[in-house]
This record gives sequence, structure tokens and C-alpha cells, in this order.
Amino acid sequence: MKKITTVSALRLLVADWKQAGKRIAFVPTMGNLHQGHLSLVSKATELADKVIVSIFVNPLQFDDKADLSAYPRTVEVDIEQLTSVECDAVFLPTAEIMYPEGMDRQTVITVPGMDDKLCGQARPGHFDGVATVVVKLFNMVQPDVAVFGEKDYQQLLLIKKMVADLNLPLKIIGLPTYREESGLAMSSRNQYLTSKQRKQAASIYRILNDIKTELLNGGADFVKLEQQAKDELTQLGFEPDYVEIRRARNLEPAKQSDKELRILLAARLGKARLIDNIPVTIQS
Ligand code: PAJ
Repeated sequence: MKKITTVSALRLLVADWKQAGKRIAFVPTMGNLHQGHLSLVSKATELADKVIVSIFVNPLQFDDKADLSAYPRTVEVDIEQLTSVECDAVFLPTAEIMYPEGMDRQTVITVPGMDDKLCGQARPGHFDGVATVVVKLFNMVQPDVAVFGEKDYQQLLLIKKMVADLNLPLKIIGLPTYREESGLAMSSRNQYLTSKQRKQAASIYRILNDIKTELLNGGADFVKLEQQAKDELTQLGFEPDYVEIRRARNLEPAKQSDKELRILLAARLGKARLIDNIPVTIQS
């Protein structure tokens, strides 16, 4: 696996591969890799001839500086893990490479309708930071396809909309959330949890599934279902941020007539802000 740290080296490698007619799949990450990330890399190997993974803890998407400095950085172990899957190159840029004129002077991408709801409301500027770094990475890597996780469902829809709106010439693939046996969605932030909290955190998936069962059984009072779930989270020791039943396609508030729904949840437990979501299809 090639380790690349500069844009010029990346461009040379990509040009070589393109000239040889190779298709390139890309998986952007912030490192601290777990099975969820590796499932995206495995899928990427099926989708193209060459796979590039980026590891960059993007300061532009952190609204909270303490969160940025606490974010786990484990590059050596990450590289070892990537060597064990069929990753062809890892791109490891620095903040100076990504933002040579500083973050304040960086041109920023805003994806309207996606940036200010749910996680965007709780984390102002977060999605502008995500969209901006991802479009820069796309322009550096020039992939044919890029793979993202449904774990960050709002992020996935944001990237899909940005790609469509800006006519970017690549395909975006979303993959289901990889979970621990308890149902807890794998996340780099899970390591902020104590072992007791980790067990508690499994309630998130259970609560999402309880709402799903209610919806499939004809439950139609979305506000009541959302409120019940928030109350239950509070009783269990979480600080809920949101529990929302939304239209899967665009995350607008769901209507009774909608068939494709997404239940999304964000809650704080101890030091961690945890997010999760599941799909629900209402049969007509
Ligand atoms: P990061 O949190 O490292 O996630 C990288 C990719 O892995 C994202 O597409 C995310 O949705 C996916 N992922 C995380 N946990 C997952 C799980 N349990 N199952 C499946 N996929 C999972 O998301 C980011 O980084 C950044 O915002 C980034 C897109 C790299 C831009 O900086």
C-alpha cells in the first residue's frame, strides 16, 4: 500500500492509474478506523480496480475545539489495518496542505436544506466543513466512485446532493451501518464511553427499533413517538438532542402519506455525542 502525503504525489499516482484504464474508488475518513470503515473499504475493492482511503481529521468541520483536540488519532494502527484489506493507497494530508491559506480564507461549500437541520442545528458550520473537505478530496483523488456510511445518514444525503448540484463526475454509494453485537453503531466516539455507558448505549438501537415497530403497526402520531423516545432516553441517563421521524429522501418532516421513512437520533451520554438512524418502509 502506498502512503501519500502530498497533492502532487497523489495526482501523479492517479494519472498513472487513469492512463492504465483503472477505475478508482475512494473512501474518505478521519482515521481511528474500525470495522465500519473497513466494510466501506471492502465494498470499494468490489467497485473499482484501485482503492484510495484518506485519513484527515478535518478541523473545518469541528464546531467545538475541545472535540477536535480530543478526537482519537491512531494513524499507525490505521495504516496496519488498511494493509490487511486490499487498499492500494492511503492519503494523509496535513491541515496546511488542505487549507494553505488558513481556514478563514478557504472557499466554503454550503448545501442548502441539508446544513441547518438535525445535526446541522446542533453543530453550526459542521456540514459546510464536511462538504468543503469532501469536494476538495474529490478534486484531488478524482475517483469514479466514493463510498460513505449510512451511519452518518445526513452526511450521506448532503454529499449526494452536492454531487448532483455541482455535476461532479462520480457515483456515491451508501452502505448500511456496521454494528457491535449489542446493536450499538460502531463509532470512533464510542471510546469516550465507560464500559457501563457502552452497555447503556445499546438502548439507542433498541429505541429506534421500538419506534419502527410502532410505525409498522400503524402508529401515526410521529410527535408522540418522538417525545416518548426522548423521555425514555432521559430516564436512561442520556441527554437527548433529537429523535425525529423524517422523509428518507430529503430529511424533511415526514407526512402520514410518506412510505420511505428514516428515524434519526442524537443523544449525549457522558462525554460522547452519539448518533444513529434506521430506515422504515411502510407497506401500502
Ligand atoms: P469518519 O467519521 O471517519 O467516517 C468515515 C466514513 O465511515 C463515513 O462515510 C461514515 O459514515 C463511515 N462510518 C462510520 N461509522 C460507520 C459504521 N459503524 N458503519 C458504516 N460506516 C461507518 O464521516 C467522516 O469521517 C467525515 O465527516 C468525512 C466524510 C471523512 C469528512 O471529513
